[in-house]
Amino acid sequence: MANAARPFQVLVLNQISELGLQRLPAGRYQVGKSIDAPDAVLVRSADMHSMDIPASVQAIARAGAGTNNIPVKVLSARGVPVFNAPGANANAVKELVLAGMLLAARNLPGALRFVESLDPAAPGLDEQVENGKKPFAGFELAGQTLGVIGLGKIGCLVAHAAIQMGMNVLGHDPEITVDAAWSLPSQVRKAASVSEVLRNAQFVSLHVPLVDATRHMVNADNVRLMKPGAVLLNFSREGVVDDAAVLRALDSGHLGRYVCDFPSAAVLRHPKVIALPHLGASTREAEDNCAVMVAEQLRDYLENGNIVNA
Ligand code: MLT
Repeated sequence: MANAARPFQVLVLNQISELGLQRLPAGRYQVGKSIDAPDAVLVRSADMHSMDIPASVQAIARAGAGTNNIPVKVLSARGVPVFNAPGANANAVKELVLAGMLLAARNLPGALRFVESLDPAAPGLDEQVENGKKPFAGFELAGQTLGVIGLGKIGCLVAHAAIQMGMNVLGHDPEITVDAAWSLPSQVRKAASVSEVLRNAQFVSLHVPLVDATRHMVNADNVRLMKPGAVLLNFSREGVVDDAAVLRALDSGHLGRYVCDFPSAAVLRHPKVIALPHLGASTREAEDNCAVMVAEQLRDYLENGNIVNA
């Protein structure tokens, strides 16, 4: 643990917020991008599965909620804790989910492309706008049913926000925690299964981690249960949805839109897919919150041996 003579060496694999790095004060910590024998690694999205993690590493701190870019089992066998920041970016993700629903319901990607295609110098611009905007008429979120699968910190915030926007919310989580159950708005109707949510919602938003039980949670067998024209939102992890099955459902005209926060090769350029470049947690506030939370956990472990949230 602590060694008064030598500062702790922390290898930083991604761009980490300055506010978080300030929690590892110079003198007691040496923080950098190339450190030979680090005591700890601070990481955001870098994939550590194929990395040769030095034997000197005593802890990993992930400035985010998910840990699937880290070989947690291998590290646990070595006695190395992996710290993460659940909830620290939940509000940022919630806000982007709301944006995702609006992008789909109001046909905003097509509308923006239409506006970009306009020639400001061309005569009759007003008329071009008036005639060209017709295909982008959409529908309102109020009164629609949103299905939320996964009622952790993000799922609960999404449910709250949707209710405030006048939506009905149907929620499902077989492993809901007592804290989450208490913080869930009373208006949320509970569904007994994923299928029940898929059958009854116009929008379905996924908020589960990627583990064996959730891989391809939405797949060829159950995507057809969704309402005609429904919108599927995946701001969790790529493997939670079987992309090929969803693309078939979009192509057949059954599914209305797929909004996801991963521009995977399979979904790129599909006219009914709205793909974002993993922006859910990319706000100043969320980056600060995550970095501060994990830097403090790391410090508490390295200096005092305390394990919080590993
Ligand atoms: C998360 O797991 O919270 C996100 O992947 C964070 C990030 O975008 O770095």
